[in-house]
Amino acid sequence: MSRNPIIVTRHLSHIYLSGQLQKKALHDINLEIAQGSCVAIVGVNGSGKTTLVQHFNGLLRPTEGTVLVDGIDVSAKGVDLRELRQRVGMLFQLPETQLFGRTVFEDVAFGPRRMHLSRREVRSRVSQWRPAQTSCASRCIGDVTGGFGAGRSLHGS
Ligand SMILES: Nc1ncnc2c1ncn2[C@@H]1O[C@H](COP(=O)(O)OP(=O)(O)O)[C@@H](O)[C@H]1O
Ligand SMILES: [Mg+2]
Repeated sequence: MSRNPIIVTRHLSHIYLSGQLQKKALHDINLEIAQGSCVAIVGVNGSGKTTLVQHFNGLLRPTEGTVLVDGIDVSAKGVDLRELRQRVGMLFQLPETQLFGRTVFEDVAFGPRRMHLSRREVRSRVSQWRPAQTSCASRCIGDVTGGFGAGRSLHGS
């Protein structure tokens, strides 16, 4: 048991679909991840890594069990997913698929706008990201690379 866990799962199970198509992807997972630690979740294809991680910002809800992220019970009814997702970023395997704005600025501004910030605050937050301080900001999003997409995703939008 770690002294200061930031993520805790208790008896976490996840079942996709139902009936004949039912698939148990996670079965009774109990884990604790200590604050400040760097953890790799390793397993063969289809072993449930993505399913597990998607519980950490409420993209998936447990079929059974609980998930606590910095004390927030992700499985609870009425949990503020917006707040949770401002704290738990998720970088997908193919960052290019997350780029959907018309320009780099528009794309990076998506997250701050979803937080209902003022236009001024959105501009300020976008400009804190170094690539957006250059002429890059007005470029068409389709022209940027996967590495750029990964950076933008990590920026939190
Ligand atoms: N949306 C889904 N619907 C039904 N089954 C799924 C879905 N996503 C994943 N699965 C199944 O759940 C299991 C775990 O998948 P996944 O979490 O993607 O594993 P990993 O990320 O380790 O490759 C696999 O058997 C996969 O086929
Ligand atoms: Mg996966």
